[in-house]
Amino acid sequence: MPARIIGTGSCLPEHTVSNRELEKWVDTTDEWIRDRTGIAQRHLAVEETTVSMAVRAGKNALENAGADADEIDLIIVGTVSADMYFPSTAAQVQSGLGADNAVAFDINAACAGFLFGLAIADAYMKAGMAETALVIGAETLSRLMDWQDRGTCVLFGDGAGAALVRRQEEGILSLVQGTDGKSGMALTCHNRPVNNPLAQNEAAVDFTRMDGRAVYKFAVKTVPCAIEKALEQAKIPAEEIKYFLLHQANIRIIESVAKKMGRPMEKFPTNLQKCGNISAASVPILLDHVNREGSLSRGDKIVLAGFGAGLTWGAAVLTW
Ligand code: UT7
Repeated sequence: MPARIIGTGSCLPEHTVSNRELEKWVDTTDEWIRDRTGIAQRHLAVEETTVSMAVRAGKNALENAGADADEIDLIIVGTVSADMYFPSTAAQVQSGLGADNAVAFDINAACAGFLFGLAIADAYMKAGMAETALVIGAETLSRLMDWQDRGTCVLFGDGAGAALVRRQEEGILSLVQGTDGKSGMALTCHNRPVNNPLAQNEAAVDFTRMDGRAVYKFAVKTVPCAIEKALEQAKIPAEEIKYFLLHQANIRIIESVAKKMGRPMEKFPTNLQKCGNISAASVPILLDHVNREGSLSRGDKIVLAGFGAGLTWGAAVLTW
């Protein structure tokens, strides 16, 4: 039996930073950021944490579904920017929600994290190991930025998105995932260096580094193929898809995917203008925004797709 999304939620930090404000911090312009990415502002955490936003998004998803926390038996959080090495974000979310019946763990599949989480929830349900799962993407990426590096810091934001998934007759129709570890050094953020009595290391804390052009090329080549494959597996023609909800990295990437697939841009809702790129949280936040606008009806076919560090990618076709 497949898994179906029965509720969505999201949480964005209170503070927004416009491109104009960024001009004061780093050598950039509003015009460059808008032209090259489509981004106009992003939300940055001040009081918020990865856990607090994930808990809020989770609560909103439960409320949206009309479900209680004790119904959840699986919590998966996709994140690359956890507040702590351990306990996991998911374990803290379990505590924050009072979801005492849930097994909880984090996964790191960067911007494909929500798609990978959805695939794990689907597999648990097919194996009869879960009935109700909370899949979350949550990031405080601003903590991983070099605020002197205009090639990265202008792109990313903070936030969390969640989907409550239940084992039901219809829902996820297909899931496609992939990883290209050989190209992984195009987008990196190193951990603390080894530091012990045998290996003393004074290296400074590292931040996000990206070969933007390499990641761009990967995205425009891989994402349409992954979506086509997912559509083929679901036996659904692209014309039947109401919305394609893509990772919100760059409007030019989304336009290129739309063009390659021969579908109009109205089929590709976006929120990157206001939120920037929030890695694992981008897709579930966008899904929640579209859901709460009332743009989805029961039975609609939609596509979700994420891509990023790893390099990783994932695409899903589902019935709403
Ligand atoms: O979520 C993970 C997935 N990530 C992505 O999908 C990101 C994919 N990559 C991209 O979206 C684009 O490659 C970027 C938006 C990151 C960069 O756009 P680009 O058109 O590929 O620019 P570029 O890196 O080739 O740089 C072009 C110029 C350079 O100047 P020169 O060498 O031509 O003089 C950069 O130094 O733009 C300059 N530049 C900037 N100028 C003003 C780079 N960043 C900025 C900036 N403001 N923020």
